[in-house]
Amino acid sequence: MIHFENVGLRYGLGPEILRDLTFDIAPRSFQFLSGPSGAGKSTLLRLLFLTLKPTRGLITLFDHDTATLSADSLAVLRRRIGVVFQDFRLLDHLTTFDNVALPLRVLGRDEESYYEEVAELLNWVGLGEHIWSLPPVLSGGEKQRAAIARAVIARPQLLLADEPTGNVDPQLAQRLLRLFIELNKSGTSVVIATHDIALMDQYDARRLVLHDGYIHVYD
Ligand SMILES: Nc1ncnc2c1ncn2[C@@H]1O[C@H](COP(=O)(O)OP(=O)(O)O)[C@@H](O)[C@H]1O
Ligand SMILES: [Mg+2]
Repeated sequence: MIHFENVGLRYGLGPEILRDLTFDIAPRSFQFLSGPSGAGKSTLLRLLFLTLKPTRGLITLFDHDTATLSADSLAVLRRRIGVVFQDFRLLDHLTTFDNVALPLRVLGRDEESYYEEVAELLNWVGLGEHIWSLPPVLSGGEKQRAAIARAVIARPQLLLADEPTGNVDPQLAQRLLRLFIELNKSGTSVVIATHDIALMDQYDARRLVLHDGYIHVYD
């Protein structure tokens, strides 16, 4: 589903942050992306979400060579990807419900068809009492859960999550991990960037580890 071949990335004239990355992400697969702070995890997620172009090498996503795609085609491909950004990126003028429902609206579904789905997911992630709240009144952990709900609601083909358990207690982290595992079992490829070793120890999954710019794959 995704293929990286000799991908390198540098910001501006700086040093190469990622070097010679060659690896695949298969459909319906689950992997953790780890490595110390500053290793390039968020950078690699940006490459996967097509918001950053590699300095060299080839990235194939959903059978498309991403270097030759138009901006419009990139936008269409992105609809098949759910993302949890480290800084959440919720829309402050929309309620939690409307933030989470956004991907479904983009797909053209009307509110009657998804009301229960969205409400149920919000209850499941513990935001039942905040369905009609605006993001500015939510705590960091609550925003994170809203961002996760938004990323998974439309059952994307690929889910990218950047430190998705960074702001919650271990018990909730476990619950969120279960949500990602369920999503994976229903067919989504999942990539979770984390440096939380306790979290990775809870699920026996493939690991992509970044170190000194190189990637090591442990199947
Ligand atoms: N926009 C940017 N411009 C310049 N350097 C950046 C930028 N974003 C990240 N970096 C640098 O790239 C390296 C990898 O960062 P990042 O991908 O955020 O790592 P991680 O997510 O693993 O902590 C770091 O040295 C960071 O300072
Ligand atoms: Mg990061």
